[in-house]
Amino acid sequence: MATKKFTGPSPYTLKPTYPEVDFMHTEYVNNVAANSKTEAPPVVGAIFGLGRAGSIHLSNIINNPRIILKYIVDDRPERFNGLRSHWKLNDNVTFLTSKDKDIVYSDKSVNVVFIGSPTYTHHEIVVNSIANNKDIFCEKPIAESIEDTKKCYEAAKAKRRILFAAFNRRFDPAYRALKDRVRKGEVGHVQILKVTARDSPLPSIDYLKTSGGVFHDCLVHDFDMSCWVLGELPIRVQATASALIPEVKAIDDFDTIAFLLTFPSGAIAIGDNSRYSVYGYDQRLEVFGKNGMIKVENERPSHSTELYIGQSGVTLNPIYYSFPSRYNVAYRREIEHFLDVVQYGVTPDVTSWQTLAVSKIATAAEESARTGKTIDIDWSEDDIPAVYS
Ligand SMILES: NC(=O)c1ccc[n+]([C@@H]2O[C@H](COP(=O)([O-])OP(=O)(O)OC[C@H]3O[C@@H](n4cnc5c(N)ncnc54)[C@H](O)[C@@H]3O)[C@@H](O)[C@H]2O)c1
Repeated sequence: MATKKFTGPSPYTLKPTYPEVDFMHTEYVNNVAANSKTEAPPVVGAIFGLGRAGSIHLSNIINNPRIILKYIVDDRPERFNGLRSHWKLNDNVTFLTSKDKDIVYSDKSVNVVFIGSPTYTHHEIVVNSIANNKDIFCEKPIAESIEDTKKCYEAAKAKRRILFAAFNRRFDPAYRALKDRVRKGEVGHVQILKVTARDSPLPSIDYLKTSGGVFHDCLVHDFDMSCWVLGELPIRVQATASALIPEVKAIDDFDTIAFLLTFPSGAIAIGDNSRYSVYGYDQRLEVFGKNGMIKVENERPSHSTELYIGQSGVTLNPIYYSFPSRYNVAYRREIEHFLDVVQYGVTPDVTSWQTLAVSKIATAAEESARTGKTIDIDWSEDDIPAVYS
């Protein structure tokens, strides 16, 4: 019998369905059906900075039919020939060093600027690009200080331009699904959020010297994740930090950090961070509440493959080694979202006040780590909504 009574109709007579979570299949289906939003002409862009972050964005820009790349600005001209040949760029793409950046600002055909240059250069590029009517995709943080970040957003508001802060983790499918499920109430009232972020590979000391410090360079992602998942802003910040790597200590930064954020709902976020994780880019997020727990574990290349099973246990592939590999999809999706905002007026996912709020939390956490004090945050003076969308 083998339960033949459940045979049912032929699958050929049914409309096929597939799980929504398979976003890559959706992308494929849209490509097959040529379902793109074709009415808007491509944006014309320039990119500043082709280091670790800029190189990720460059490959996504070049492969995106919604963008025509016109300028690449970087201060390592010795790489220009190699890059042109590697990416098969024709003469429509001009390479410049930053001393010639005014060519980009004054070119009226350029309507978007991507910024992946060092943090200390952002403020100047943002302000000049906005003054020349360009929309901006800017790597986090927008500027080195809260004051300069505010000035950037004020300039964007005055000129009605988009200034998008690239918080890439928001566009990671696993983190977004976790956030959506928490917001739908699957775990009920949240008690604890735990976030682990351990960097890999170890950034160069030259990079760390101009990074703005680990709280503003790395932990901003964890503060943003905590607030974004919970939908609120912390009222208390505590952090402790060590510099175990002598070169990091010598520049008065930290490589090992733990933090606690307390939220008005009573939820507590616990974070641990490291500048260097030898086994790969360790990224985990867990939310525990009244009705259960939801977790995002580390992802791996070919994660379903068990490499070896023996008497000592099971060996798996290592986790993704770096941020470009772990967040490959997120980087692509954040650019798509930015283009939706520019071309179709979609509401930006990352708002000005969220970027400012995260910057304020980072400043408080660094103060807590440096002084040993608990920092209470009063949001009333900042004109910041209490609900973090
Ligand atoms: N979201 C993320 O995952 C992520 C990851 C890494 C870095 N970042 C951010 O990206 C930014 C760059 O970091 P990085 O690690 O790529 O740095 P990097 O040092 O690897 O690269 C910086 C590049 O910018 C170029 N440059 C320097 N001054 C310039 C200028 N005025 N105009 C144009 N180019 C200039 C340099 O020649 C270099 O190629 C930082 O703000 C950092 O916080 C974000």
